Amino acid sequence: MKVAVLPGDGIGAEVTNQAVKALRAVGRRLGLAFETTEMPVGWSAIDECGQALPPFVREACRQHDAIFLGAVGLPDRDRTLPQEQRPERAALLALREGNFANLRPIWLPPCMAQPGHPAADMLIFRELNAGIYMGGDRGRRQTDGIVEAFDTMRYSVPEIERIAHLAFQAAMERRKQLCSIDKANILATSALWRETVETVSTQYPEVSVRHHLVDSAAPAMIQHPEQFDVLLTENLFGDILSDLGGVLAGSLGMLPTASIGGDVGLFEPAHGSAPDIMGRDIANPIAAILTMAMLLEYGLDLGPAAHAVRRGVLAVLEAGSRTVDIMADGCTQVGTTQFGDLVVEQIERS
Ligand code: IPM
Ligand code: MN
Repeated sequence: MKVAVLPGDGIGAEVTNQAVKALRAVGRRLGLAFETTEMPVGWSAIDECGQALPPFVREACRQHDAIFLGAVGLPDRDRTLPQEQRPERAALLALREGNFANLRPIWLPPCMAQPGHPAADMLIFRELNAGIYMGGDRGRRQTDGIVEAFDTMRYSVPEIERIAHLAFQAAMERRKQLCSIDKANILATSALWRETVETVSTQYPEVSVRHHLVDSAAPAMIQHPEQFDVLLTENLFGDILSDLGGVLAGSLGMLPTASIGGDVGLFEPAHGSAPDIMGRDIANPIAAILTMAMLLEYGLDLGPAAHAVRRGVLAVLEAGSRTVDIMADGCTQVGTTQFGDLVVEQIERS
């Protein structure tokens, strides 16, 4: 099984190292052989080859079974480039292409729950290949001396159906509750979204469905996280709500993601490059390690290996080791590398 490894920028390399260590450990434990190819992306690629996603990297990624990406972008340097050449569009959105379903689990295990901050376990399905991010008209124009900019939000029925099916199938494996989030009182795309999700839902009679407007869904997620199981939403709403999920999970450093549905899945932690903390061995590697678990499960169809990695992370948390961003009373603070080592130990011991 071939995994393309693109550490990228900022803390990308340090958290990717921990995730790759976990991959190797689970490979040894379960007798699986993983071949990894490390390649540049983002500013590390611009500096080496002049482009955020050099054609040879893009081509090589297509020859792999799954892609692991650390993080791309460095805000200070991004500003010096036109939007189309920045790592976010030129690398990230290009690598996501074809992968229409972005899975973003929000997870706070019971051992990390505190009074006023309950455990959370939900799974966001964010549509990733349409909506206001993609396709349609975007740009600027000038009319009568006034400059305006515009983006177009567009959805087709098949684009809504395909992600709805994945979300309903996931709900069947979980607590059988699905909350679809839209702005159907205002947006044409949302009205179509709601109708289409309703139609798809008739094929999953066991799943209880509700529709929530995005503005009221946001506070409800924070106030009553236990009421959410699978969330299904369009691209931009999913982007915003998943960062809000970071509050529930205690830190952005807890959030893995998987982008699937295309030829080769892309797996990346949600936190970004965090240049302010890079190189200090304090970044939380949990998002990256759990991202590797998602790569194993959804990218390589190795459910048991994914579970072994998740159990390893949980065991380390239950034993009280924490990086600084999730530090709590009575716990032991550890660095990025040490946290990774502890997870490896747990995987080997399991
Ligand atoms: C994310 C990020 C990206 C997005 C940006 C960097 C393009 O915010 O993965 O959530 O908006 O999808
Ligand atoms: Mn985002």
